Amino acid sequence: MRTGHTISLGRAAILLVCAAVVAACHQAPPRPQPQAEPAEEIRAGPILNQVDTVSEQDVLTEGRKVYHGPGLCYACHGGRLQGGPVAPPLAGNTRDPKDTSFAYVLQVVRAGSPHTPMVASQGGISPGEMVQVANYVWAVSNGRSVP
Ligand code: HEC
Repeated sequence: MRTGHTISLGRAAILLVCAAVVAACHQAPPRPQPQAEPAEEIRAGPILNQVDTVSEQDVLTEGRKVYHGPGLCYACHGGRLQGGPVAPPLAGNTRDPKDTSFAYVLQVVRAGSPHTPMVASQGGISPGEMVQVANYVWAVSNGRSVP
C-alpha cells in the first residue's frame, strides 16, 4: 500500500543516490555501463558499476546487512541467495537475465509479488534500505559480489 508520503521518500532516496553517483563521477570517470536499463531506476543501480569507490562499498555493505537482517530476505531466499522451500533463488546462472536486472529486483522489493509471500517492503524496511538491498541482490546475482 503506497501513500504519497512513502512515494516521495522513495523519490528522495533515489535522488540522494543519484547525487552520490554524480559526485562519484566528478572524482573518476565512470566505467562503461554493462547493460542498458530504463532511466530512473538505472541511476540508482549502477552505483556498483562505479567500481572501487567508497560509496559503492558502502551501499553494498549496507545492502548485505539489510538482506541478512531487518529485510528478512535470508529467511526465505537463503543465506547465500540459493532459494528455499518457499522462495526462489536470487542468484545462480540458470536465472533469466531479466530477473536479475536492477530495475526488476528493486520493483519486486518495493511492490512485492501479488498473492505470494513476497510482500512489499519486507520487514518494514525504508525506501533507502530497499535501494541498498536491491543493489546487493543485483550485485550477487550478476557475479559482482559474493553473498
Ligand atoms: C516470507 C518469505 C520471503 C521474504 C522474507 C522475502 N521474499 Fe522475496 N520472494 C518470496 C517469494 C515466495 C517469491 C516468489 C514470488 C512469486 O512467485 O512471484 C519472492 C520473489 C522475490 C524476487 C523475484 C525473484 C524472481 O526470480 O522473480 C526478488 C528479487 C525477491 N524476492 C527479493 C527479496 C528481497 C531483497 C527480500 C528482502 C528485502 C525478500 N525477497 C524477502 C518470498 C520472500
